Amino acid sequence: MIIKKQWRILTVGDGDLSFSNALLNHQPAALTATVYDSLATMIDKYGDLFYQQLKMKNTPVLFEFDVCNANSWTGLAKNSFDVVIFQFPLLPAFGSFSEYQNRCANININTLNRRLLRDFLINSFNHFLDPNGQQLCFITSKDVKPYRQWNIENSLNLQTDINYLGSIPFALKMFPGYKIRNVDRDKHVKDTKGVTYVWSRQQNHAISGRLTAAQFQGADYCTACRAGPFSTDVDRIEHNHSKKHLQMMALERLWATDIRDNPQQFNQN
Ligand SMILES: C[S@@+](CC[C@H](N)C(=O)[O-])C[C@H]1O[C@@H](n2cnc3c(N)ncnc32)[C@H](O)[C@@H]1O
Repeated sequence: MIIKKQWRILTVGDGDLSFSNALLNHQPAALTATVYDSLATMIDKYGDLFYQQLKMKNTPVLFEFDVCNANSWTGLAKNSFDVVIFQFPLLPAFGSFSEYQNRCANININTLNRRLLRDFLINSFNHFLDPNGQQLCFITSKDVKPYRQWNIENSLNLQTDINYLGSIPFALKMFPGYKIRNVDRDKHVKDTKGVTYVWSRQQNHAISGRLTAAQFQGADYCTACRAGPFSTDVDRIEHNHSKKHLQMMALERLWATDIRDNPQQFNQN
């Protein structure tokens, strides 16, 4: 991850605040940390060790901060950050199987997770990032199922003026003390390598040169499946008939329909 001292940083969806606390080692110009849960829920899940450390370092922390819900942002100064970071985003766990059945009756969980990430990008650019600042959004995720089926590089910014700039491997050792949290258990996310994906309203950003541009692009590849290059037509046809590809295409169609049918939900200006 690229972090510069002169940046004003907002973290979204921190689990136990260990990431925000570790970020302070990079001495950013300003840091505001946010947690989706209430303070009581966070303490119940993970304790308050990192919250206490942030308090001692006078770092503002907002609880019950839902990046999709403007009513929860009241404690935050508008458009005052250079970078907004969401580490390992994932929908909050469903309270019960019946809640899962209700919420996912008419919508695929893959689409719900993509909505979360798209809302994060659009709301960050419209409400959190300073238009005269660095204009950067970072999402760190893992390139394994189910996360890779979100098609992060190609699908989240469709029909917006937000540009995908590229990615950089996430080096956990840059953040001593950071414990990557699962959504609901006091347990670390499996130690699979993370990748930080970067967006900006600027098409060419000063940090672009340090990023790897979107891969698997062009006629010889299947961009959504991150497959290829196919050396022959037979290879391509075989891929197109594979279970993996058919599943991915079904998810892409659901996502395209969701964006088409719900454009208003992404524009909470
Ligand atoms: C897999 S956990 C990762 C937690 C933490 N970022 C980390 O890296 O350890 C996913 C996090 O996303 C948060 N989250 C889910 N939906 C959110 C939303 N609408 N707004 C803010 N955070 C959200 C959850 O509360 C949870 O903490």
